[in-house]
Amino acid sequence: MSYLVLARKWRPQNFEDLVGQEHVTRTLTNAINNDRVAHAYLFTGARGVGKTSAARIMAKALNCAEGPTPHPCNECGPCREISSGTSVDVQEIDGASNTSVDDIRALKESINYLPSVCRKKIYIIDEVHMLSTSAFNALLKTLEEPPAHVIFIFATTEPHKLPGTILSRCQRFDFKRIPIKLIHERLRSIVEEEKIKISDKGLMIIAREADGGLRDAQSLLDQVISFAGNEISDDEIIDVLGVIDRALIHEAVKAVIDRDSKACLAIVDKLFIYGWDVKEFGKELLEHFRNLAVVKVTEGDPALVESNIDELEIMKSTVQNVSMGDLHMLFDLMAKGMDDILRSFHPKISLEMLLLKMSTLGNLRNIDDLLMAVQGMEFHEELTPAEPKKRAEDKKEFKSESHYKEIPAESPKEPYDLSVEAKLPVEADWNGFVSHVNGKSRPLGSMLEHAHLIKFGEDSVELSPSNTFEYEKLSDDKTQKLLLAFSLEYFGVEKGFDIQLLDKEVKTINSVYEKKKQIESDKSRKLKKEAMEHPMVLESLNVFGGSVEEIKTDLNFNE
Ligand SMILES: Nc1ncnc2c1ncn2[C@@H]1O[C@H](COP(=O)(O)OP(=O)(O)OP(=O)(O)O)[C@@H](O)[C@H]1O
Ligand SMILES: [Mg+2]
Ligand SMILES: [Zn+2]
Repeated sequence: MSYLVLARKWRPQNFEDLVGQEHVTRTLTNAINNDRVAHAYLFTGARGVGKTSAARIMAKALNCAEGPTPHPCNECGPCREISSGTSVDVQEIDGASNTSVDDIRALKESINYLPSVCRKKIYIIDEVHMLSTSAFNALLKTLEEPPAHVIFIFATTEPHKLPGTILSRCQRFDFKRIPIKLIHERLRSIVEEEKIKISDKGLMIIAREADGGLRDAQSLLDQVISFAGNEISDDEIIDVLGVIDRALIHEAVKAVIDRDSKACLAIVDKLFIYGWDVKEFGKELLEHFRNLAVVKVTEGDPALVESNIDELEIMKSTVQNVSMGDLHMLFDLMAKGMDDILRSFHPKISLEMLLLKMSTLGNLRNIDDLLMAVQGMEFHEELTPAEPKKRAEDKKEFKSESHYKEIPAESPKEPYDLSVEAKLPVEADWNGFVSHVNGKSRPLGSMLEHAHLIKFGEDSVELSPSNTFEYEKLSDDKTQKLLLAFSLEYFGVEKGFDIQLLDKEVKTINSVYEKKKQIESDKSRKLKKEAMEHPMVLESLNVFGGSVEEIKTDLNFNE
């Protein structure tokens, strides 16, 4: 007896058996039940995800002796013939080898004959994108008005290669890559039926390798079975498929996070000794860092991370001790490093250097902490008015005593006085009102924020919006009523809003928005200047011999 490969033996015979494509099978089932079957379908999607299988099930559903039914019996003449590919009325045509106009002409002729046994003549054209342009043109007319007894089912992995004229005449279904979990389940039920012993972890390795295609998964399983027989150990799978042991990925992540550079080097070495592909390892590691970040933000939502429960648990415990910021940084480094590795003539060395860099990241981060600390210290100094002067003197001494690199000082502009608002009650009132409106209506608040205040009187406000659109918005009756209502709420009196369009040159008080920006930039300049002059920064520049490239300010930090 000849051996039937698993992929063929386990071809789904019913819509229910088609894994992971419920969005397709549900619609097709409804169409059959409601007698609304289209005359041309297009099935698109990656290799081995069920397109041809679905087309055959559809053909059986429409032609089953007990049909049309979404549950073909798989026993009757038509069902059996369709399954075995011997039906005269259901033809499978390979677009890759029947691409000429003549082929299409022959097809068009046969279309005109009524089906001999079945209800419908069904043409399943696989890899339809391979047809020539003239073949497409020949098909078009038929597609437009096919005889009532004809149905086309096109399948392709590359729908973008199809002409729009064809696309627009078909009802399209996009088949999805099948999630690892579903592949795993399907494999599990197959090995159970086939009486093959294999661990969950082993099946997971295969499912992961299959990359979303069930046919690939089954072929890999075939491969493993022919090597190992009916009892398969995890090591045998790893050997046959040449896949990277997931344990090594976890080890690598642990080494990086523990800042254990030595362990990182040992892992690359191990990779090398076992002859595993460095680039492949890098890709998996990159994906793993992505998964860790997702586990961190979703607290381990299994829907978003393709892995088994054991791995998910490992990841959950891993991310507990890592901040999101660090994960981000590690992912960034890894992604950039992967570019190098993929292009490198010495991927092993590139990987080594990358892991070393990642595992010494702790030192980099300390500079960030340092800057935070610097800002924090300055903040406390501001609270004690007597201190700053003394500090300034310290700084000077500190500078002159040593040979620190000269840092260009910013222009000696007086820092913006943050208390200015308090001195101008009018503005304070206006600011308060704007943020009150902001809390009620963002769009209106934003318009007020950008507008220039011309006059702020007892019972009236004169405003100049920043453009004509806002001028019209603010002037319309509805907005005017709103403004009256908000002013009553906030000031206790109704203020009339007089909206005018002024030339840019006319000087008015800055808009709230401009002032905010001004304060922010002054504040950030001040913070930056202080950071640059801070003894700790100067000291670290001295120790590390570097220069300050960028200073980031966190304006909220000081508030
Ligand atoms: N969604 C699925 N559910 C169950 N089995 C599937 C599924 N997809 C693929 N298979 C398995 O893979 C085999 C091949 O599937 P099928 O021929 O339907 O894929 P396809 O999408 O047409 O692939 P290709 O693009 O390479 O033609 C099937 O015989 C079946 O064993
Ligand atoms: Mg196919
Ligand atoms: Zn039947």
